[in-house]
Amino acid sequence: MTQKVAVLGTGKIGEALLSGMIRGGWAPADLLVTARRAERAEELRTRYGVTPVTNAEAAKTADTLILTVKPQDMGTLLDELAPHVPADRLVISGAAGIPTSFFEARLAAGTPVVRVMTNTPALVDEAMSVISAGSHATEADLAHAEEIFGAVGKTLRVPEGQQDACTALSGSGPAYFFYLVEAMTDAGILLGLPRDKAHDLIVQSAIGAATMLRDSGEHPVKLRENVTSPAGTTINAIRELENHGVRAALIAALEAARDRSRQLASGNN
Ligand SMILES: NC(=O)c1ccc[n+]([C@@H]2O[C@H](COP(=O)([O-])OP(=O)(O)OC[C@H]3O[C@@H](n4cnc5c(N)ncnc54)[C@H](OP(=O)(O)O)[C@@H]3O)[C@@H](O)[C@H]2O)c1
Repeated sequence: MTQKVAVLGTGKIGEALLSGMIRGGWAPADLLVTARRAERAEELRTRYGVTPVTNAEAAKTADTLILTVKPQDMGTLLDELAPHVPADRLVISGAAGIPTSFFEARLAAGTPVVRVMTNTPALVDEAMSVISAGSHATEADLAHAEEIFGAVGKTLRVPEGQQDACTALSGSGPAYFFYLVEAMTDAGILLGLPRDKAHDLIVQSAIGAATMLRDSGEHPVKLRENVTSPAGTTINAIRELENHGVRAALIAALEAARDRSRQLASGNN
């Protein structure tokens, strides 16, 4: 029997996932989508050949439901869905910060729930998606979630207790790199380079460094030492980074992001 997958609340992340799944070989005929606005639903049908349905229809028809509304809209969506979701359907939440217990409390007893925290590079198939099982999710459910989110990048399983830490590292992670690029581009301007050239130099250096980190198998310390010659330029820059406490700032920043994720998860908005 063909497995039908529904994406409920198909916005930026939902659409990235949908398009990745289609590129990965899912048949559009097996994909259902829901949207709040009719014109958005039509846009998705035209763009991908998928079938827009109501949330209730998706709940009744699809084997797997992927919920990608904003966290603040999740309660309303679940109120709408809960009466229609049979307890054997896999429910995957893509919403930041909401624990699986939130879904389990609102769905039929025993419904398997998997929580996934992805990040915006899902838009370019380079996501880091962190996957955790709820109380009733099986190995097969986790494998199914990995298969779906694997269409837009890498996946990693963690116990749910580590989700707030992962949100701080990879959920918000791309923003830190955007921030670094912005700051380094400003530095390029200070050094007399035009903004577009400074931007290109930094972005390509970031891509090169990221590729080396991923593909070389070397520790980042080794990679940095390889470009840090005695009395050279890099060590002078590193001294300034240390003088300004950049390492300590990063540790504190990620701790603050983790703490905020915990607050949001406990309903403290
Ligand atoms: N963007 C990120 O950086 C990122 C990263 C990781 C995880 N996430 C998570 O991914 C989820 C989606 O984020 P996003 O940035 O993709 O948000 P988004 O673009 O606003 O997408 C959510 C979509 O859900 C629709 N919607 C809301 N309530 C609905 C309902 N009851 N029925 C059907 N559709 C409904 C919204 O419709 P309207 O267009 O009418 O508002 C919108 O199109 C969030 O929970 C977020 O925590 C996001």
